[in-house]
Amino acid sequence: MAKTETDEKKDCTLFVKDSVPCLVIENLSKDFGGLRAVDGVNLTIEQGERRVLMGPNGAGKTTLFNMISGVYPATEGRILFFQKDVSKLPPYRRAALGIARTYQITNLFPNLTVAENILMACQALSRTKFVMFRPVTSYHHLRDRCDQLLKEFDLWDKRNELVKNLSHGDQRQIEVAIALAGKPHLLLLDEPAAGLSSAETHALTLLLKRLDPKITILLIEHDMDVAFEFAEKITVLYQGKFLAEGTKEEIRNNPTVQEIYLGAE
Ligand SMILES: Nc1ncnc2c1ncn2[C@@H]1O[C@H](COP(=O)(O)OP(=O)(O)OP(=O)(O)O)[C@@H](O)[C@H]1O
Ligand SMILES: [Mg+2]
Repeated sequence: MAKTETDEKKDCTLFVKDSVPCLVIENLSKDFGGLRAVDGVNLTIEQGERRVLMGPNGAGKTTLFNMISGVYPATEGRILFFQKDVSKLPPYRRAALGIARTYQITNLFPNLTVAENILMACQALSRTKFVMFRPVTSYHHLRDRCDQLLKEFDLWDKRNELVKNLSHGDQRQIEVAIALAGKPHLLLLDEPAAGLSSAETHALTLLLKRLDPKITILLIEHDMDVAFEFAEKITVLYQGKFLAEGTKEEIRNNPTVQEIYLGAE
């Protein structure tokens, strides 16, 4: 019999142990026709860790996220989430287990309000069976979760505004709120600060630093200042391959990283 989302949550509670890493990626590769976009990447992220993934355009960062979240199957390799092999699971089952993500390109519903966007995310990730002719606002526990997120993200005063009328910075914050709707264990953020002003980037960085320390976060970020502000450890990909991993200082002083990423002579 097919597993329900409730079963998945139970499974997840069973396998979430203190002593194991949140995410282990083993020899992961992805081919698009003749192009090897991700090439034999290994990565271990501990529970509660904040890790930044860097690398120049086309390095394979988003493809790696697509494989972790299940959008693309891996060509080779395994993805272990709290030691459970999730490599073959479809995206919705990985989401039910606690893997959430945001996208490089904004994917909100522009003609709906902030609250409606968040409420829909809560509904999508809830165990409640959707009944076509019952308004989604009648599901009280979903509204409670939605209100909680609106308050937590300082969006309460803007809850009835259409998303299209908000600033890019606010829209990025809503995307993070949506990703957190299902209380995930692992949050994958794909360049959330892209296109933001420095003030908006600062506000977003503060928001990310305020998130529950139990949530493990993997952040793709080009801006070195944001990356260094946010993470203890940084992993650099280049042309689909692992290039370097280390502390801020180690990455900053790595000559290969300087050469390929910062364009140093
Ligand atoms: N669906 C796809 N079909 C074919 N090629 C793809 C697909 N998705 C990504 N690629 C290719 O895979 C490589 C890695 O792309 P990816 O988007 O993962 O890079 P990235 O590190 O996220 O880059 P950026 O910093 O520009 O977002 C690129 O050469 C890209 O053109
Ligand atoms: Mg990308």
